[in-house]
Amino acid sequence: MNILSPSLLSIDFNHIERNAKVLDEAGVKWFHLDVMDGTFVRNISFGPPVIKCIRKVTDSFFDVHLMINEPIRYIDAFADAGADMLTVHYEACKDLQETIDAVKAAGMKVGIAVNPETPVHWLEYYINQVDMVLIMSVNPGFGGQKFMPIALTKLQEVKALAEERNPELLIEVDGGITVDNVQDVLDAGANVVVAGSAVFKGDKKANIAAFMEKLNA
Ligand code: DX5
Ligand code: ZN
Repeated sequence: MNILSPSLLSIDFNHIERNAKVLDEAGVKWFHLDVMDGTFVRNISFGPPVIKCIRKVTDSFFDVHLMINEPIRYIDAFADAGADMLTVHYEACKDLQETIDAVKAAGMKVGIAVNPETPVHWLEYYINQVDMVLIMSVNPGFGGQKFMPIALTKLQEVKALAEERNPELLIEVDGGITVDNVQDVLDAGANVVVAGSAVFKGDKKANIAAFMEKLNA
């Protein structure tokens, strides 16, 4: 069973409640929340107070993608805001082990993300300690970018590692995913698919249905 995690970066925040309902009714179970600090990436999005507001209008699983430096500083704030899982960037943590442990201690699931240029084998040591690995298929910071095919090789590498060390591992891919290329990432090993613009541009319901059909085939 594969999971669709729509990136709310592309949602209309003027009508967050109504839009969240559309996702819920379309059968979406996960919301992907992109937090950016203007330092780790060259963009600023939103933080715990906004997540807390969205928490009030949906029971979906909150898959929070932290594109921030030293996320260890804010773990309790995201837990209080209603995050279910925190995914931290390998490149953004001085002490990744300590960060993973702190997310778990705060009662959340934990993921580690890698930028396109970061090799998968650097994650080898952590793979049996986390719930999810996130392979970035664009350079993080903005929605609407083009999918980078290097992600396919990296998904295969994570999948091979997971089979050996953590068969339950969730493998997420994020950036430039469309209904046309989603099959490629599924075939390469992804089981959690993030999509922003491809969900929110045009008819959301129809877009989600098209994704679901491929994800559940
Ligand atoms: C990019 C974010 C993504 C982004 C995906 O930095 O992490 O989650 O919103 O958007 P699309 O699907 O439009 O590439
Ligand atoms: Zn993301």
